[in-house]
Amino acid sequence: MSRRALAGPPQNTNRFAMHDVLSRTKPISADTRIRITARDVNVFYGATQAIRTISMDIPDCAVTAFIGPSGCGKSTFLRCFNRMNDTIEGARVEGRIEIDGEDIYTPDLDVVELRARIGMVFQKPNPFPKSIFDNVAYGPRIHGLVRTRGETEEVVERSLQRAGLWKEVKDRLHEPGTGLSGGQQQRLCIARAIAVGPEVILMDEPCSALDPIATAVIEELIDELRTNYTIVLVTHSMQQAARVSQKTAFFHLGKLIEYGDTEQVFTRPAERQTEDYISGKIG
Ligand SMILES: Nc1ncnc2c1ncn2[C@@H]1O[C@H](COP(=O)(O)OP(=O)(O)OP(=O)(O)O)[C@@H](O)[C@H]1O
Ligand SMILES: [Mg+2]
Repeated sequence: MSRRALAGPPQNTNRFAMHDVLSRTKPISADTRIRITARDVNVFYGATQAIRTISMDIPDCAVTAFIGPSGCGKSTFLRCFNRMNDTIEGARVEGRIEIDGEDIYTPDLDVVELRARIGMVFQKPNPFPKSIFDNVAYGPRIHGLVRTRGETEEVVERSLQRAGLWKEVKDRLHEPGTGLSGGQQQRLCIARAIAVGPEVILMDEPCSALDPIATAVIEELIDELRTNYTIVLVTHSMQQAARVSQKTAFFHLGKLIEYGDTEQVFTRPAERQTEDYISGKIG
């Protein structure tokens, strides 16, 4: 064995390895439609400010990755897009957020309807304590999107197909969703989110509880879904951000430090703090 092998891998090779990974994601074209516009957004938990005057344009039909050290505000900022912070006591959101030009913080907005349009997938798969079928059928039923059993079956099958789960569950649709493996449960949660025909899918570390094989399946799915959806993905994995996203936003201490094409952010970061983070010096 060589001395090099004994000494282990050299430090801070992330950026070089990243080149190979990045060759798969291409920057999106400049004329891509903007789906979400955030302007001067501040978020407070009581007296503590978690998000500091962030403005950002998020494109349609692309994956935008949020990266940054723990506690920097990724989840807090993500939750602004479907008003999930409204459900947290003491949380206050300031600034303006528009989806397709519509201000989502107007007082008369129907928040339940908004959360159907802006689906969310969480770190820990959280199927309802219901059958696989009913997990997916629930949203379309309560939002009045299906009228007959036939329509419901069609939506359930289509959503499970799109989530890449149909083949594995088609013979056990009436078994509990909680009986699936972690990776299958996460795909079930994605099927549940897409069943109501959302415009945007927010994903907060959707693979962090999964093994590498299940992670690869979800990443493939995210890549497919982006042809029709706006996806915002929080991840702690630099490799994952580089593999699946077209835009990357780096946050630090509640501030947006850098936002650009993923390829640029990982290979030619404009900010020293970004470089330090992606090369493993901070965080
Ligand atoms: N419900 C809450 N009440 C009070 N403070 C909160 C709450 N949620 C988050 N915070 C604080 O807001 C800041 C941002 O937290 P947030 O969860 O958005 O970070 P994050 O980047 O998602 O971190 P992680 O990578 O660990 O998930 C942190 O300082 C955190 O302690
Ligand atoms: Mg978080």
